[in-house]
Amino acid sequence: MPYRPKPSHRAPATPATGGKPPVRFKRPPLAIQVSTLWDYPSQDYGDGRQGIPGYKGATPSYIIWNLLQRYTAEKEMVVDCFAGSGTTLDVARDLNRKALGYDVHPTRKDIFRVDAKKLPPELTGKVDFVFIDPPYGTHLDYGDDPRDIGKLDLADGTKYYDAMEQVFSEIHRILKPGRHMALYVSDSYEHRAGKGVFHPVGFELFARLRKLFEPVDIISVTRHNKTLEMGNYRKAAEEGNYFLRGFNHLFVMKKA
Ligand SMILES: C[S@@+](CC[C@H](N)C(=O)[O-])C[C@H]1O[C@@H](n2cnc3c(N)ncnc32)[C@H](O)[C@@H]1O
Repeated sequence: MPYRPKPSHRAPATPATGGKPPVRFKRPPLAIQVSTLWDYPSQDYGDGRQGIPGYKGATPSYIIWNLLQRYTAEKEMVVDCFAGSGTTLDVARDLNRKALGYDVHPTRKDIFRVDAKKLPPELTGKVDFVFIDPPYGTHLDYGDDPRDIGKLDLADGTKYYDAMEQVFSEIHRILKPGRHMALYVSDSYEHRAGKGVFHPVGFELFARLRKLFEPVDIISVTRHNKTLEMGNYRKAAEEGNYFLRGFNHLFVMKKA
């Protein structure tokens, strides 16, 4: 069942909001998700922010919070090698974990300019948990670095999947035996020359992860993107007989 905020979690209607409930409601408290369908109605948790406000493609921070609660302990080392706006670093530090962030387009001083396909050699066997939310397809432009995996067209043979397989092998190298990694990713549907093309990115990546890791679980995460509510998007999906992406895959894997 999709998450519906309880009335107590909504901010009250006031004269300033024209007597109507305001669009933003008070964020509900964080809780460990217990089923394989995860849902939380906000990008950030608590009273503050995780990552950089307005960053396009940021990971909802409750996902990382839940993973760190389950698969790490205080003072352990967490790595995100597609660090983006640094959501993983902020959540990890909130929970007293150590964190290292890498990205080919660093947005902050605590993120190092490193290609996820070539992680630092000194990390071999030192890391307790890895979280990644990589780009998939070319729909977001993160910058000019040609090593950006988001510049690899999903329709261009297996280039994107081969690059991700290199990343998986690096993650496998840096993880301690018996420890976990998680991949958050969506499938993709795009229009090309008037024709719709579906890319099952999740299952393609899962098949490649399986070569190296043991599967622990597969979770569906409800998406709360604004486009899902927009009339023109909904109409186009109905008329064009295709589906808007309602969930992301979250694969949890273990190094044997
Ligand atoms: C979806 S964003 C990550 C969002 C991040 N989890 C957050 O919450 O802000 C993907 C990131 O991957 C980075 N990226 C793309 N190719 C990369 C590569 N080869 N190595 C490291 N980072 C890469 C992009 O620059 C972008 O910042």
